[in-house]
Order: sequence, then structure tokens, then C-alpha cells
Amino acid sequence: MADDLCQLIEQREPRVQLVCVPSLLPAMRWPADFSGDPAFQRTPEEQLRFEDLLDSADALYGIPDVSPDALRRVVRNNPRLRWVHTMAAGGGSQVKQADLSPGELERVTFTTSAGIHGEPLAEFAVFGLLAGAKSLPRLLRQQRDHEWSGRWTMGQVAEQTVLVLGLGGIGRVVAAKLSALGATVIGVSRRTVTVEGVDQVIHPDELVAAAARIDAVVNTLPGTIATEHMLGDGFFAAVQGGVTVVNVGRGTVIDERALVTALDAGRVGFAALDVFESEPLPDDSPLWDRPDVLVSPHTAALSAAEDRRIAELFASNATRFLDGRPLLNRVDTVEFY
Ligand SMILES: NC(=O)c1ccc[n+]([C@@H]2O[C@H](COP(=O)([O-])OP(=O)(O)OC[C@H]3O[C@@H](n4cnc5c(N)ncnc54)[C@H](OP(=O)(O)O)[C@@H]3O)[C@@H](O)[C@H]2O)c1
Repeated sequence: MADDLCQLIEQREPRVQLVCVPSLLPAMRWPADFSGDPAFQRTPEEQLRFEDLLDSADALYGIPDVSPDALRRVVRNNPRLRWVHTMAAGGGSQVKQADLSPGELERVTFTTSAGIHGEPLAEFAVFGLLAGAKSLPRLLRQQRDHEWSGRWTMGQVAEQTVLVLGLGGIGRVVAAKLSALGATVIGVSRRTVTVEGVDQVIHPDELVAAAARIDAVVNTLPGTIATEHMLGDGFFAAVQGGVTVVNVGRGTVIDERALVTALDAGRVGFAALDVFESEPLPDDSPLWDRPDVLVSPHTAALSAAEDRRIAELFASNATRFLDGRPLLNRVDTVEFY
């Protein structure tokens, strides 16, 4: 963590004493590279010092080495540990991998950085929807081939009905931006909620029925057992007319095999994907070579403000923690998101 962000946390919550020892952590290779350079290694003495620090903390800013084993070790070795904040918005899946006992999950509260990526991801969603509506792959191909074709009509987001899966931190901003563009927005939620910019809220059970009347779909849902392949054969068989698909939530929500089948059949016209079932996207994935698919290497959420927003969220949760109030963004330890 940069010095100015350490200061920001200590200024906002002076009761926090931060212990930052950058020499014990790998250098970040790029923004939000929280696991850092894999070439980094601690000497045995440094590893002992690192674990001593972890084992004497009340709270952790990040999962040690972003490793489920290291997380399990510190939870078991540090009886005073009460709170771990994950850098990732989808940190719930990292906590799940640590395979902690019910007692451990009760003793230690886990929080995520969910919600801070609403703006950049909503812009990526708009970008993907516009690229689909304006036939970006055809424009790029024709320009590359110097082909001045006959004219054709372009889609208008303002005339589209867009399905937004998930109405949390990301989904709400997506809905607001699409509504501002004039789109009709159908939100998908398990709860009866009223959300600005959403014209209708449907339950996930109604997805296939809604599929026939949409022009585009944006996924913002996390990866859980309940959301796995929510957009699969049943959904893609029901869409028609070359819909646009955007995924900025978790890759596992879309069954990529079913998506490819729908692209081949023309039921899906364009897909802008920032997340994938398996990351990095395997070399042999059919998605790489398709002109009707835009592959973004899980980078659409990052903005220059990423680290500051996480530090601000941590500082306000630190105040809640010290005041004995409920923390924001608690990991649901049943569904792990
Ligand atoms: N592309 C990226 O780099 C990137 C960056 C940030 C986040 N993400 C992913 O996006 C996810 C969402 O982020 P967020 O900030 O919007 O999180 P969030 O504020 O926690 O919102 C998650 C939403 O998903 C809903 N949900 C969960 N399971 C559901 C289900 N089975 N059916 C219907 N709705 C369900 C939740 O609804 P309830 O109210 O019913 O719980 C909640 O509204 C993260 O978990 C992460 O996986 C990706």
C-alpha cells in the first residue's frame, strides 16, 4: 500500500495502527496485482517475521499472499484475528477456498471490495452494448479490407430492452447509465426491490421467459453455486435476433459452450466479455479467434482510483469495527460472495 494511502487510513480512523512492511511483500507488476510478482521469495527469516506480524494482528488488509492456505494458517494461528478485508470485490470465493470451519467463519469477519467498481464496469457495459448495436466487428473488418459497402441500419441502445443480472453495486450503476441512454431496463434480483433506472424487476426463475423480448443482456452477478451457468442452453435457446451479451460479473455465470453455440446460430450477435469461466482464458478457447467476441483480460474494472477507493472503504469499515457496528460488504458465508 502506498504511503499516502496508509496516511489516509490513519487520518480517517486514528484508532487504527497500520503495520506496513513493503519489503516483505512482492512488488505489484501492474495495477491491482495483489498477488504480486511470482518470482518474489522471502528468506526463511523474512517468512517467520511475516507470519509473526500476521499472527499478532487484529485485522488484515488483504489475504496474505492471496493464498487460501496462508489465510487458513493465519486464522488458525492467530486467536485475536477478527477481521480480514479482501482486495477483490469477489473475495467471497477466495474465502471459500480456504475451507474454514463454521466456528472460524463466525470468529473472523470477512469483507470484500464490492461496490467500488460500479462506474468503470458500467462504462464497459455501455461500451459493449454500443459496440454490438453499432456492429463494431463489421466496421473493423470492412475498414481493414478497404470495403465501402452498401449502407445498413444500426441498432440504437435507446430503443433496446436490456436485461441486467444482479442489482448490487455494479448492476445499479449499469441500470442508471442504460436508463439515461433511453434503454428499457429489466433487472434480475431474488428480492422485491425498487431500483432507479430499472423498469421492471424479475426473479432469476423468469429469465428464460424474459429472454425472447430482450435485445441485450449484462451480467453483473458474482460466482456462486446458485449463479453458475445461469446463462446457459435454456437462456441462449430463447434469445433471438442477434442479442448483445456483456459479462462484467463472474465468468462462471455464463456457460461459454452454450454462448458459442448461440453465436454460431446468430442468436447472439456480439459478446463483450471481461471475465471468463477459466482465467487466464485458455489458449484453445474458441472465444479468442471470434470477431464477434471482444476479449478483455479482466481489466475493465480498474481505474486510477482503485487503491484509494479500497483504502477509503477499509477506513470506514475500521470505524464500524472499532465502534462495534456491522461492517459493510460482509462476505455471505453460506453462498460466499
Ligand atoms: N470484472 C471485474 O473485474 C469485477 C470487478 C468487481 C466485481 N466483479 C464481480 O461482480 C460481482 C458483483 O459485484 P458488486 O460490486 O455488484 O457486488 P454486490 O454489491 O455484492 O452485488 C452482488 C449482487 O448479486 C446479487 N446476487 C447474488 N446471488 C444472486 C442470485 N443467485 N440471484 C440473483 N441475484 C444474486 C446480490 O443480490 P442479493 O441482494 O439478493 O444478495 C447483489 O445484489 C462480484 O462478486 C465479482 O464477482 C467483477
